[in-house]
Amino acid sequence: MKGNLIIYNANIVTPTGNTARRGKAMNELLTIPNGTVEITDGIITYVGEHRPTLPEGYEAVDAHGKVLLPGFVDSHTHLVFGGYRPEEFMWRMRGDSYMSIMERGGGIVNTMKATRAASHEELLQKAEWFIDVMSRMGVTTVEGKSGYGLDHDAEIKQLEVMRDINDKTDRKVDIATTFLGAHALPPEYKGREEEYIDYLINVMLPEVKERNLAENCDIFCEKGVFTVEQSRRLLSAAKDMGFGAKIHADEIVSFGGAELAGELHALSADHLLHASDEGIRSMAANDVVATLLPLTAFTLREPYARGREMIDSGCAVALATDLNPGSCCSGSIPLTFALACIYMHLSVEEAITALTLNGAAAIGRAHRIGSIETGKQGDLTLLDTDTYYVLPYYTGMNSVEMTIKEGRIVSTRF
Ligand code: NIG
Ligand code: FE
Repeated sequence: MKGNLIIYNANIVTPTGNTARRGKAMNELLTIPNGTVEITDGIITYVGEHRPTLPEGYEAVDAHGKVLLPGFVDSHTHLVFGGYRPEEFMWRMRGDSYMSIMERGGGIVNTMKATRAASHEELLQKAEWFIDVMSRMGVTTVEGKSGYGLDHDAEIKQLEVMRDINDKTDRKVDIATTFLGAHALPPEYKGREEEYIDYLINVMLPEVKERNLAENCDIFCEKGVFTVEQSRRLLSAAKDMGFGAKIHADEIVSFGGAELAGELHALSADHLLHASDEGIRSMAANDVVATLLPLTAFTLREPYARGREMIDSGCAVALATDLNPGSCCSGSIPLTFALACIYMHLSVEEAITALTLNGAAAIGRAHRIGSIETGKQGDLTLLDTDTYYVLPYYTGMNSVEMTIKEGRIVSTRF
């Protein structure tokens, strides 16, 4: 079900274009005061100053005194998972590191057990709870990764949950699905990393492709998890099969992940807390979206990624939440804005581009979403104030009044 909707008197603010904006161009937003957006059958059919007489069959919203933005695109989440890991959070608060918990059998493998044990319906209900919360913060598209099954059936189960959410006509978000079978080595494959990568390449990826269950492929490229060479092997094979390549890169140590992303022309490299200068150059030179996840640095008490330097070096930067049960159990868009502006020194305008158009590019959808332009999906976020500065300024507080998905009002504060 797609909507017919007209929003008028809005202060429209949007990046423009069908590709990621890089470097200085991230700062340029189009603004149309007292603007109108018309959405017909879910697609934007008019953007401009003209106020139309209301055609029949359209819902109308008077947005006087309010800012209208593209719907936010959260381009890195792990939103389908079983169980929770609050005890690990408490251990970290006491000083344990994320990797030391993983090394002693906690971490991703802990969630793997709970995800294998959970039913399809349990996983679906839980993911929808998160989606509901995210929709109220203005999110209209999320990326969703598998990676907590780590065997055939449970990986497929995670992807099928996301497919079923996408199939709902009244869904609040679209999920861009990513196969992350290489999130950790499953215990059954202990000491047999190469065999596991072979299994993913020869069995899992072809089936996932054949059944159209994921668009992109990702790997946790990190010291003690998967090597650069294993990442190169998996992502090259995935690209050959038509998947977009994404990579968890340089999160815990500087490891060469950003460089590899450049070499492979990946859609995005994500985390990048410890990306090297060469890695930053490689991403900028090869159109890799540098996806930064400041909530994870915050919750892990790690230094923030060098967002300012990346933009100044000509990178396209996206911001995302990383919502997951371990390193960052938060999907907070308001806090993401605040941390990006306060600690990574992005301007508000750059942060808006990072959470809209560049997020869309990081999942290969910049031609369909991420800006308010004719021909794009009618996915919009209406703030309840007349200035977008509230996005970081209301620190951690939600300023979204209404979220619109393909012309349907899916969340409203009142
Ligand atoms: O993006 N770093 C790897 N994967 C996730 C964490 C997953 C987990 O701890 O469950 C991340 O931070
Ligand atoms: Fe992640």
